Amino acid sequence: MSVRHFRNLLDMTPAELEAIISRASELRQMQHRGEIYRPFVGRTLGMIFEKSSTRTRISFEAGMGQFGGHAIFLSPKDTQLGRGEPIEDSAKVISSMVDIIMIRTFEHDKLDLFCKHSSVPVINALTDDFHPCQLLADMQTFHEHRGSIKGKTVTWVGDGNNMCASYILAAHQFGFQLRVTAPYGFEPNPELIEEYSHCVTYVEDPQEAAKGAHLIATDVWASMGQESEQMTRARRFAPYQVSPAMLDKADPDVLFMHCLPAHRGEEISFDLLNDPRSVVWDEAENRLHAQKALMEFLLKDKINLNS
Ligand code: CP
Ligand code: NVA
Repeated sequence: MSVRHFRNLLDMTPAELEAIISRASELRQMQHRGEIYRPFVGRTLGMIFEKSSTRTRISFEAGMGQFGGHAIFLSPKDTQLGRGEPIEDSAKVISSMVDIIMIRTFEHDKLDLFCKHSSVPVINALTDDFHPCQLLADMQTFHEHRGSIKGKTVTWVGDGNNMCASYILAAHQFGFQLRVTAPYGFEPNPELIEEYSHCVTYVEDPQEAAKGAHLIATDVWASMGQESEQMTRARRFAPYQVSPAMLDKADPDVLFMHCLPAHRGEEISFDLLNDPRSVVWDEAENRLHAQKALMEFLLKDKINLNS
């Protein structure tokens, strides 16, 4: 039987994605009620981080603990991954000892190669190209606040990066219309825009792009690995700062999301996270619940063995 991985949102059907976010909301309620649910006793998650993280590391590690399992943090600095052991060999060895793996790395190809040689499910916890776990949390959060996102208008403001590309795939899988507004030279991959032209449009003017939107989302101007471009990017992205005034142009029920970490005075105004239309703290918390639902989905056969 072939192993299911979660490299990007296209690895699940729309129905599976809906089921995962609905289960995530259930798990959120169970957690808030203090219920103990331990389907992963004796199971282990390997967590490979080649980039920094707060939310992703804590949500995976805490989630695995809450499920009764164990998580191992693996950094290139402390493993042979950082000393050039081939990805193929690492994937074979690590997957022979753990039940599920998550990877945060640079090149998406590296993740694909790891998946090819892994005998257990592998989750993309962010690459330079995609951040699908964040989109599970974002879709869950929208659903909890406003109901179905199907047919709604979402505006992506800023860099055409891994988050923007994930929003493009989400538009296709969850059935919303996405407007992308980014400075010239920082648009998303044109092939993605072309392939998903049925649900994605590029709008030059950020204020125009915000009009009537039901959700506005943005991200840092310089992603991890682009630190040296910070100054140039700050100049180019200045007109793309999201503020309460921009939200005023959107639908009266608009929500604002940001995967975090946020930079006040750069991609968001100083006051934006205090605006009642911002749901970034729920969005961050939902990383925990969405990834628990994802791991439960990917390991459902093993859970059945436990019970
Ligand atoms: N949003 C997100 O992935 O945050 P971290 O980089 O802190 O994991
Ligand atoms: N685009 C950002 C997301 C961080 C969660 C980055 O890749 O650094």
